[in-house]
Amino acid sequence: MVAEVKEPCCQDCQACSQQPWMVEIDAFIDELAGRGSLDGKLIAILHRAQEIVGYLPAEVQAHVARRLSIPPAKVYGVVTFYSFFTMIPKGSYVVNVCMGTACFVVGADAVLNEFKRLLGIEAGQTTPDGLFSLNALRCVGACGLAPVVVVNEKMYGKIASKDVAGIIESYKGGGSK
Ligand code: FES
Repeated sequence: MVAEVKEPCCQDCQACSQQPWMVEIDAFIDELAGRGSLDGKLIAILHRAQEIVGYLPAEVQAHVARRLSIPPAKVYGVVTFYSFFTMIPKGSYVVNVCMGTACFVVGADAVLNEFKRLLGIEAGQTTPDGLFSLNALRCVGACGLAPVVVVNEKMYGKIASKDVAGIIESYKGGGSK
C-alpha cells in the first residue's frame, strides 16, 4: 500500500500530524519506546515506515528524525546506504522475480534479465511512468512452479524469458491487477 504523503507546511504542523501514515509510524515508535531505549532502532523504524508509506520520501525521513531527535542527514545516510530502502514510490505493478535456488537453477536469472531489458530498469527500480517496479526475491515458497514470478498478488509459474513480454503487456492499459 502507498500512503499519501503531503508536504508539511511547518515543522510541527497539526494537520500534518494527523496524516494516517504519521499516526501509524508514531504508534510503532511509541510501542518500541515502551519496551526500552530507541537507540539502535532506526533501521527497524525505517522498515516499518516503508511498509506503511510504501517508500521513504523526505517528509517521512524528517518525521522519523524529529521523533528520534537525530539529524535528518543521519536518517538520509541510512536510507541511501541500504538497498532495501527506497525514496521512490513503488509502481502500480510490483514484479517480483524469485531468485531462490530452485528458481535460479532453472533460469530465473534469464527471466529477471528479460524483465530488466524490456522495462529498462534494474531490480529495485521503478519505471519512469510509475507503472512497474522490479524486485529480485528469495524463495517465495512455490518451488514446484520454478521459475516463479509474482506480480502484485498474482503468481506465474514455470516462466521462461519468452513469456516476459506477454506478462508485461497484460498489465499495460490497466490490465490484470
Ligand atoms: S526458489 Fe523460487 S519459489 Fe522457491
